[in-house]
Amino acid sequence: HTDISKLLLSRIRDVADYPEPGVMFKDITPLLADPAAFTALTDALAEISVRSGATKIVGLEARGFILGAPVAVRAGLGFIPVRKAGKLPGATLSQAYELEYGSAEIEVHAEDLAAGDRVMIVDDVLATGGTAEASLQLIRRAGAEVAGVAVLMELGFLGGRGRLEPALAGAPLEALLTV
Ligand code: PRP
Ligand code: MG
Repeated sequence: HTDISKLLLSRIRDVADYPEPGVMFKDITPLLADPAAFTALTDALAEISVRSGATKIVGLEARGFILGAPVAVRAGLGFIPVRKAGKLPGATLSQAYELEYGSAEIEVHAEDLAAGDRVMIVDDVLATGGTAEASLQLIRRAGAEVAGVAVLMELGFLGGRGRLEPALAGAPLEALLTV
């Protein structure tokens, strides 16, 4: 491990059996509460975004907002929220996707993305990859280009990277930590 991954890892709390029995929840609130760790995380994700030539940061509600907004400011790029359905007042594009039980829907303001935009998606965790996959579809449907997906942590055992591969279409998936 590099110094930064050690620092980040040390500020993520494992919570057993949350939100349901058998699940180990990765709680990032200790990291957010530590200014050195939160700054290091923001700088690392901003560096990835700038290096990829991104022109906009898309954050995924809700934890992707907490990470993506400071990344956008740090990188000098605009921030575009992808929200859970029903929260955006303007004309939206929406994308439904399957969850383990049931389905979900996310939306973006149609006017926020267009041809010529190059988008970096920021979120805290890549688990099954369903949320990121739906976001990639949303961005492409808006006519924008994908610069990549950048997450704090990838849960390798859930196979999200493999699921995401077709939707990435060669764009990078960058995870600062794989657990
Ligand atoms: C969590 C996490 C990722 C997503 C990853 O969000 O923050 O966005 O799940 O899971 P996936 O790869 O299987 O799609 P969630 O919607 O549970 O909660 P949040 O609103 O707190 O971000
Ligand atoms: Mg989330």
